[in-house]
Amino acid sequence: MAKIKAAILGFGTVGQGIYHIVNEKKEDLKKSLGLDIEISAILVNNLAKERIQTPGVLVTDDFEDIINIPGLQVVFEAIVNEEPAYGYLCKAIDKGCHVITANKVMFSKYSIPLHERAKSRGVFIGYEATTAGGVPVIKTLKNLLQVNSVKRIQGILNGTSNYILTQMRLNECQFNDALTEAQDLGYAEADPYNDISGQDAFRKLMILSALAFKKQPNWDDVRVVGIDGISLEDVKKAKQEGLRYRHVAEIEQDENGELFASVGPQLVGPDHPLYAIEAVNNAVALDTNYIGTLTLVGPGAGMYPTASVMVEDYAEIIGKRAGFMITI
Ligand code: HSE
Repeated sequence: MAKIKAAILGFGTVGQGIYHIVNEKKEDLKKSLGLDIEISAILVNNLAKERIQTPGVLVTDDFEDIINIPGLQVVFEAIVNEEPAYGYLCKAIDKGCHVITANKVMFSKYSIPLHERAKSRGVFIGYEATTAGGVPVIKTLKNLLQVNSVKRIQGILNGTSNYILTQMRLNECQFNDALTEAQDLGYAEADPYNDISGQDAFRKLMILSALAFKKQPNWDDVRVVGIDGISLEDVKKAKQEGLRYRHVAEIEQDENGELFASVGPQLVGPDHPLYAIEAVNNAVALDTNYIGTLTLVGPGAGMYPTASVMVEDYAEIIGKRAGFMITI
């Protein structure tokens, strides 16, 4: 049976999740796609760091070792920040590899040039994992945009923030203790600044904007506020009033086509659709012209939810390339 050689760039929480899931689902993927996937190489930052055993896999800190693997066809990217991730993906596409990314910081900025590059090389980009973790908002949006148009998107797009706000309310713990828990559970970024400052939700909102509206608002015009200014006292006071803090990202297009976006905490009551969204869950409500409002809810962060949608992207891309739809 023909083999698909794949590499994983970045071996933190998400990179390790991809490795586990690919190995666990190897036989099923072989059956459904008629192709065997092999993780040929993993790119790490620090070779000396202790990590899980990956027998038979090249583990390197040099991207050139990876890009020069003969017949490499798929690159899973789970690095943080714009560079070197963007440069690596450009090289991978130029080599004819499909790329599947979880990197929202990079993709929110470079989705257009990456798509153009991929188109010119006849390869695909999977980016479901960039936005809302395990919630399939990208594939849902792509599908409904074939017929519907979207007027407004509103959601909770950062699992760490929602987890912290929930823990503070339920356990009356301090902000920093709830953040430490979110880090221990693998929800927060290695540097959680983007999570708690609202920047992570902002980047995800910009990815949704590029897909839904084919453009983004001017980034400087978007007010972005995090949850880092919310104290335990604030949360307790809201609770006494029957309200909950939610970190809400929203974007709307007016009749002239202009986009208005904002990201920040809101106090919501029991009638608000985001009131019931607890812990690490994300929610995305899409206001469309034919369907009406469609809301997706699910785990927005964590090793397996995020990694599994990347392996789903792999199955979709390889299935498309082979010219068939996957039926399980
Ligand atoms: N740190 C991110 C979050 C991970 O908490 O939502 C998923 O993008």
